Amino acid sequence: MSQDVFLTGITTTGTPHIGNYVGAIRPGIEASKDLSTEHFYFLADYHSLAKNEDPDKISQSTLEIAAAWLALGLDTEHAYFYRQSDIPEIPELTWILHGMTAKGLMNRAHSYKAQVQANVESGNKDPDKGVTMALYSYPILMAADILMFKSTKVPVGQDQKQHVEMARDIAQRFNHHYGEVFVLPEAVIGENTAVLKGLDGRKMSKSYNNTIPLFADEKRLRKLIMKIKTNSLEPGEPKDTGDSTLYDIYTAFATEDEIKDIEKRYAEGIAWGEMKQVLFEYINDLIKPARQEYERLIADPAVVERELQKGADRAREISAPYLDQIREAIGIRSLG
Ligand code: TRP
Repeated sequence: MSQDVFLTGITTTGTPHIGNYVGAIRPGIEASKDLSTEHFYFLADYHSLAKNEDPDKISQSTLEIAAAWLALGLDTEHAYFYRQSDIPEIPELTWILHGMTAKGLMNRAHSYKAQVQANVESGNKDPDKGVTMALYSYPILMAADILMFKSTKVPVGQDQKQHVEMARDIAQRFNHHYGEVFVLPEAVIGENTAVLKGLDGRKMSKSYNNTIPLFADEKRLRKLIMKIKTNSLEPGEPKDTGDSTLYDIYTAFATEDEIKDIEKRYAEGIAWGEMKQVLFEYINDLIKPARQEYERLIADPAVVERELQKGADRAREISAPYLDQIREAIGIRSLG
């Protein structure tokens, strides 16, 4: 068997937060150190259109997410790091895949169904209210991302698993019709990639407005950590690690020994204020060097742009000739 190709996309909405760090950025950078496998990480900026974001926000988010991966040390000589919209073969392949995608398959996509469900529940006469074609065919663009680089493994959160399975279905149908053109991908759902809790104890997510930005400055980071919800146990009273957001966040960062030590201090009744200080210092010390680099990159976006152009050039060395083969296979050919 040939070597594995890992590929994952990051939608360019919002500012990178510590949940993105432990769930995607840290494991992604770690995995890419394995030189015996290939790694593609890209900014899925066309996907962000499905949500009709403000244009300036999309471009700011693109800069911030790219700067975050670079500041944290992604090796862009080995990993392919690019912006989806810099690879024109991807939208072209998206259209080609439309011809092999059953409408019924798209009807079953969770993201589309959730929108319809919300419309029905709110008593709206039009079940498709707010559903653009970009939202509806989102899984086809995602299939193009995945198939374009012959990915075998696609690390995603549980919520994206269905989309990867759809990419596989579409590829299978295509291969059946046109011959073996695509490699069949499979989703990898990280078992030990933490799903971090946010300030209010729910899953950390931009949509709940409960995130801690990864590169918040010291003052802001401290302020946000001080806001994390706790119960009202007094200093000296033993505390349960089982329902403590502070503990959960700490464990996503700390080593096993450090975690054991904190468990002991919970049992001894560490004050919440003190635990917050421990967590603040831990994250702050860890992030500090990368934060400096991040700030430098944000202040000099041309550096980030150059990195992305380099990534796109490398990626297109693969996508351009492959798309020629795909066009040949479907009969979009030069006439001589
Ligand atoms: N849809 C994914 C998300 O919202 C992002 C994404 C776009 C992606 N294209 C991809 C993930 C291809 C994996 C592979 O998280």
